[in-house]
Amino acid sequence: MEPMSNHTSLRIGGAAEIFALPRDLDSLKNIHLNLKKSNIPYIALGSGTNILIRDGGIAGAVVLFRSLKKIETLREEDEFIFIHTDAGALLAKLVRFSQEHGFSGLEGLAGIPGTVGGAICGNSGAFGYEIKDVLVALEMMDREGIVSWRRAEDIAFGYRKSGIRPEEFILGAEIRLKKDHAEAVSKRIGEFLRTKRERQPIWEPSAGCVFKNPPGTSAGKLLDEAGCKGATIGEVEVSEVHANFFVNKGNANALDFIRLMELVSLRVEKRFGILLEAEIKILGREIAD
Ligand code: EPU
Repeated sequence: MEPMSNHTSLRIGGAAEIFALPRDLDSLKNIHLNLKKSNIPYIALGSGTNILIRDGGIAGAVVLFRSLKKIETLREEDEFIFIHTDAGALLAKLVRFSQEHGFSGLEGLAGIPGTVGGAICGNSGAFGYEIKDVLVALEMMDREGIVSWRRAEDIAFGYRKSGIRPEEFILGAEIRLKKDHAEAVSKRIGEFLRTKRERQPIWEPSAGCVFKNPPGTSAGKLLDEAGCKGATIGEVEVSEVHANFFVNKGNANALDFIRLMELVSLRVEKRFGILLEAEIKILGREIAD
């Protein structure tokens, strides 16, 4: 048993019955094979930055993806540069790699926590950038344990979502960036990071934005105007800095987090007639068996 609160940015989550940390692709294949043979359900987890795991934990296994983390330049073609990144590499490391080499395309993703695999699964984005826009192909392991490359254009990406299922593993990705100058890339990254630090409580434990933005408006703005800032249940609080961030003030639990989601979305619905949709993934059991 491994408490998932140790593996989520919110520091919330009951225990997983089985917890696996593959060292490399071969050990991942072995783990996958054994779980399948024993009929044990499993999910892949990166850094747990966009996820709420319920207090009853995970029935089955959690496979943590952090040890596969290599990033390397593959080739150049005209003004483009192609890079291979493992799924467990931190997105921040990939952004830093592109910054140091003067490659453009990921600037808006600076400051987003989590792994590349997690970012691809939820099509992370900010400031008009989305990770799908730089993806060429994905190396995936399917339910049968078969590894293959899939073209990014064959995967249904949408706003903060992808057609990738939780039991499919993203092993790595080929991405395409544009050649630029390190100073120009750094300057853009610096500006985005400054904006983020001003507008988001990035220094407190959270899972980023809790709700998706409804078409044409911002969930944070609606929550703010509905008077939700500072609303608290247990030790979960709607941030005073940005109303679409819920922060863990100490020892928060998932039940209180979900109750707070219900409370504030009801306020927004009453005030504006808009139903908010969760952006974070909610997984696990309410109570352990
Ligand atoms: N606003 C308020 N009060 C708040 C929050 C926002 O009035 O409490 C207003 C702002 O003043 C601004 C507008 O709402 O006029 C939009 O706010 P902001 O620029 O902060 O952007 P957002 O729509 O709230 C989105 C993404 C963020 C991303 C930022 C920057 C979603 C759900 N949120 O936020 O992504 O970092 O744009 O591009 O798409 C995330 O997905 O986890 C996330 C943090």
